[in-house]
Amino acid sequence: MNYVDKINHLLKPSQSDNLLVIDLFAGCGGLSLGFEAQGFETHGFEMDTDSCATYRKNLKGKCTEIVLTPDTKLPPATIIIGGPPCQPFSVGGHQKGLKDSRDGFPIFINAVKTLNPEIWLFENVRGLLYKNKCYFDEIVETLQGLGYVINWELLNAVNYGVPQNRERLIVVGHRGNFKFPLYTGYKVSAGEALGEMALLAPPSSKFLTPSMDEYVAKYEKASFCKNPRDLHLNKPARTLTCRNLAGATGDMHRIKLPDGRRRRLWLREAARLQSFPDWFEFVGGEISCFNQVGNAVPPLFAFHLAKSVQHYLDRVRY
Ligand SMILES: C[S@@+](CC[C@H](N)C(=O)[O-])C[C@H]1O[C@@H](n2cnc3c(N)ncnc32)[C@H](O)[C@@H]1O
Repeated sequence: MNYVDKINHLLKPSQSDNLLVIDLFAGCGGLSLGFEAQGFETHGFEMDTDSCATYRKNLKGKCTEIVLTPDTKLPPATIIIGGPPCQPFSVGGHQKGLKDSRDGFPIFINAVKTLNPEIWLFENVRGLLYKNKCYFDEIVETLQGLGYVINWELLNAVNYGVPQNRERLIVVGHRGNFKFPLYTGYKVSAGEALGEMALLAPPSSKFLTPSMDEYVAKYEKASFCKNPRDLHLNKPARTLTCRNLAGATGDMHRIKLPDGRRRRLWLREAARLQSFPDWFEFVGGEISCFNQVGNAVPPLFAFHLAKSVQHYLDRVRY
């Protein structure tokens, strides 16, 4: 089965099980979709209106539009997942750690404390392990104090069939004997994911202008890039972010066409490189949709994480 057929088929919400997964900071539901495809019931909590609309359009689970706080009342759940935004990253020098009210971790930790789930999992950028290691240690210590064994790994979605190098920190709290998913082996290239689409250039495409080409060339020279950072169809894509999808920046994602012109990626191409199935529709304006895609956990990667959670629950429950 080719990549597109595989994700269209595999990532179908199926809900054969009634275990409820609460997804905090759910975005458009990339992480939730992987869990639904493994048969979990999901309930997302998210403050962005477009993201909530996308979630509701595509997932079976509910999505509550809400600005979460540590005091938000949540329904009882067996599993808590989420991608808490981490403010201390951007406030260089003034880190207030768990006392920073703009930060998502106090909300996530309070949810774990109140609901006492059997297992929880969060995703974050790798910087949490480096620039913000002290803060990470504080988070882990607090969650350990709630009675969980905690494991974390830097995992690259490319090792789970996603056609993109995307390294993220995955942290899991459990009662013992959780195992991270094994690599699936085969790496999918951007060309396999995009197929013919990558060669098309309808007039509505956003072509790079000569001044943009110049800007990109200057950026690449200044950042010592050996090869132009156009999408290489024979390899997995580089990491997709809100910034390099939605903004006309020096490192923006673009495709070089056979005739030498370059165009920006389409939303559907970005979605494919993030392993969203073609039936998944995004709601909102172009920038909002690119942000939803760039923010998401690739659903195929989430599917493998969810399988590990399911195996863990099978071991402890039966
Ligand atoms: C990294 S994205 C999550 C992506 C999601 N895990 C996925 O796979 O699609 C973080 C989300 O948190 C939301 N957010 C940030 N602070 C929030 C808050 N206090 N309450 C609710 N949502 C919040 C943002 O709107 C954003 O959509």
